[in-house]
Amino acid sequence: MLRILVLNGPNLNMLGVREPGIYGVDTLQSIEQRLGEKADRLGVSIDFFQTNHEGEMIDRIHSAYEQQDGIIMNPGAWTHYSYGIRDALSTVNIPVIEVHLSNIHKREEFRHHSVIAPISLGQIVGLGAIGYELALDALHRKAQSDGS
Ligand code: DQA
Repeated sequence: MLRILVLNGPNLNMLGVREPGIYGVDTLQSIEQRLGEKADRLGVSIDFFQTNHEGEMIDRIHSAYEQQDGIIMNPGAWTHYSYGIRDALSTVNIPVIEVHLSNIHKREEFRHHSVIAPISLGQIVGLGAIGYELALDALHRKAQSDGS
């Protein structure tokens, strides 16, 4: 069974409250619930983790080593500067799809650059919570076409 880990970085626990005009009204809990239902339909195992603490996120990524087949990650603001998160993802060598709710390219300049993108399989931006579901579809279809 395909094993997927969904990671959310800082401030994403505040979805629903946080700048709803930019990030939407869905809570992280409702997003995770929908993803869980979708994973069930696809026959995929799915785990979720959110933290506001970089070291905790690095530890969680390390513990995914040889335990997970794909990672869907919204690194929040870490996207733009955290070489620690990037190096952790490279270390475990698990395919990562980077997701952003907002279109980071039409926002402030500092959001245009991702230090995670060069080590990602792909990036989905600007489609709101649907982005996580598309990422799950993509990892599932890729696993099927890779024959695993
Ligand atoms: C975000 C975009 C980041 O720039 C921001 O710091 C976030 C959320 C998004 O999902 O659009 O926390 O990753």
